[in-house]
Amino acid sequence: MTRPLLFSGMQPSSDSLHLGNYIGALRQWITMQDEFDALFCVVDLHAITVPQDPAELRARTRATAAQYIAAGIDPARSTLFVQSQVPAHTELAWVLNTVTGFGEASRMTQFKDKSARQGQESASVGLFTYPILMAADILLYQTAQVPVGEDQRQHLELTRTLAERFNSRFGETFTVPEGVIPRASAKIYDLQNPTAKMSKSAESEAGLIKVLDDPKATAKKIMRAVTDTDGEIRFDREAKPGVSNLLSIHAALTGRSVDAVVEEFAGGGYGDLKKAVAESVTATTAPIAARTAELLGDPAELDRILADAAEVASERAERTLERVYDRVGL
Ligand code: ADP
Ligand code: NA
Repeated sequence: MTRPLLFSGMQPSSDSLHLGNYIGALRQWITMQDEFDALFCVVDLHAITVPQDPAELRARTRATAAQYIAAGIDPARSTLFVQSQVPAHTELAWVLNTVTGFGEASRMTQFKDKSARQGQESASVGLFTYPILMAADILLYQTAQVPVGEDQRQHLELTRTLAERFNSRFGETFTVPEGVIPRASAKIYDLQNPTAKMSKSAESEAGLIKVLDDPKATAKKIMRAVTDTDGEIRFDREAKPGVSNLLSIHAALTGRSVDAVVEEFAGGGYGDLKKAVAESVTATTAPIAARTAELLGDPAELDRILADAAEVASERAERTLERVYDRVGL
């Protein structure tokens, strides 16, 4: 029986994944590996649409891949590869550029937001055509279902439009992908600012739990997490965002319901809850960090794993690209 295809891309844009990435995304993918024919792509070509330091990008690309493997993505079951090692991504993106209207590309709100932050004049054309490269990532593998969050919904709509337009102009070539709401998963908030989502773009790292951080530093951050003054342990996202965040982190990492965690800690102090959270978090992150360090300690072996996967991905991508070139007369 053929398994449905799952394509997921992640930017190598940080020196370490954070707890939100792990609980909200990576952990889901690990459990989906048997059910899906999974392609996990470190999208380094997307990362250069904003200014990058070359040595840092190279290191982050390896480190991102290493963390996925360390956390449980199994290169024997899933195809974990680096985007720039599969030339078909840029080749298809070019063809898709030629069927995209300048006007419709100009309506992408993420470009407007990002370029406004950088200054319109200095934003690159690569940042402008980013959604077209993303369309190529998806369409190359004939992906039928794409889990998309709110921020990528418009880009997926463009992907569908381009696939439909290409198909009607040149003949059936692409599967038109459906967006699926990602499986419900806990949203993790910043420890110092618990009404904001934990994010690598936070102004301060004081409330950010990084998977590769030293466990002692992580425990310290958790012990210093912002709570409130009523001293009561209960789940109330509105009135008690800090305590609720700690409860949902602990529930997610111990595989229990939030209610069960509340029951265990109700009547106790915040210190005991924080200690337990520090334990469940470091019990998760420390082994991932240790295994990541091992993998990064043997870059030749890691590069070999990635090169093998790139070959597998290339072979699949080429099937689509060849058909595309043929259809357009190349
Ligand atoms: P960031 O917000 O730090 O820039 P990304 O946008 O790169 O993170 O997110 C990568 C993946 O991690 C996405 O699938 C996203 O849904 C998930 N994710 C990111 N932050 C969180 C969070 N705070 N809680 C739950 N999931 C998150
Ligand atoms: Na983000």
